[in-house]
Amino acid sequence: MERPILTIKQAAKLLQVDPNTIYRWARAGKFPASKIGKEWRVLRSDVIKFLESKKKKNQFLTEAQEAELITALVGRREIPIKFEYLGEGADRYVSIYAPAVGGGSETEIIFDKKEHFLRYFERKKFNLLDVGCGDGKKAAFFISHITRRASAYSALDISARMLDIAEQTIEISHPNLAFEKFIDDFEFGNIAHTTYYLHRRYQHNNLITFLGNTIGNTLDPHRVLINLRDSMGDEDLLLVGLAFHNPKNIPLVEYNQRSVIEWLWTIPEKIGIKRSDGNIEGIYNKTKRQFEHQLHFGKNWERMYGGSLIRFTKDQKVRLAISRRFTKDDIFQLFARAGFKIEIFVHDKDNALVLCRPHAWEKRI
Ligand SMILES: C[S@@+](CC[C@H](N)C(=O)[O-])C[C@H]1O[C@@H](n2cnc3c(N)ncnc32)[C@H](O)[C@@H]1O
Repeated sequence: MERPILTIKQAAKLLQVDPNTIYRWARAGKFPASKIGKEWRVLRSDVIKFLESKKKKNQFLTEAQEAELITALVGRREIPIKFEYLGEGADRYVSIYAPAVGGGSETEIIFDKKEHFLRYFERKKFNLLDVGCGDGKKAAFFISHITRRASAYSALDISARMLDIAEQTIEISHPNLAFEKFIDDFEFGNIAHTTYYLHRRYQHNNLITFLGNTIGNTLDPHRVLINLRDSMGDEDLLLVGLAFHNPKNIPLVEYNQRSVIEWLWTIPEKIGIKRSDGNIEGIYNKTKRQFEHQLHFGKNWERMYGGSLIRFTKDQKVRLAISRRFTKDDIFQLFARAGFKIEIFVHDKDNALVLCRPHAWEKRI
């Protein structure tokens, strides 16, 4: 029978670490050991719990995310881009940040067409919910210039680290504004639990911002719009920023700059793919009007990950990211099909902004 009580040496053996490390942790109160007279004793069950707590801290993805990643990787040779924003991926993304990629700027368009937007926000208070918040700087700009009467700023993102970054931004720019953060995946389904909570908590309509062509990075923009629509009432508003198709501006060089490639290595490296196993390259897919980043394997590769054997052969490719460009027709069709009524459509040569609300069902076609 296994002994329920262990010495430090036995605990160290169980954990396969040096006993001196355990003594040090025990003295510093970082290990669940008790001193009985001059001797340290540890419960075997506490050693197991200690190991599990470490596992959770080191775990990058939740179990559900790991299953989604392996399904995409093995079944479709894809890594969903949303995972690249987790952990240090958030810092890498923020350090390169969007304006360099894609040119133009949503905030510039908003500033230029300020009077269009002010009509909606000048007299009415809204709860601002920033979906896929990034570093929160665009929201900070929007609050300063357009929705000065925002009742609260809430951020929803898949990445806890990204939410922390957005929180710091808003704390500095709008220290007196209520801030709430929600970890969620908008591709999974509607986010009505959050929008409903905000309605009840602040007693205003919601304004959802969904900027930075986040919609153009998803595999199914229609499904994402439906998720957002199902989280809204007819009086709520949605502001979406999309990359506008400009055949004269295909900034492939920017998509291939080192910092972008570095960022996209975040997840492959977590899986155990090394730089010497392949290379990442951005290409432009003219037919689909989208940029795509692909990882090309330079040699055969296999490894156990999350309990599955993952295998790629030399010259196989894994798609890491897409960035769609939308024409005016694409945009009007996309929003109409998802049941939205467009209130404002503005664009410059590289970016488009749509302010819309769900069509009342009596008026839907
Ligand atoms: C392209 S960045 C845009 C950031 C910001 N809105 C901007 O315009 O600068 C995409 C953001 O959406 C988040 N994101 C991506 N996919 C997501 C998903 N499925 N669910 C929740 N957040 C997601 C990322 O973590 C990141 O903060």
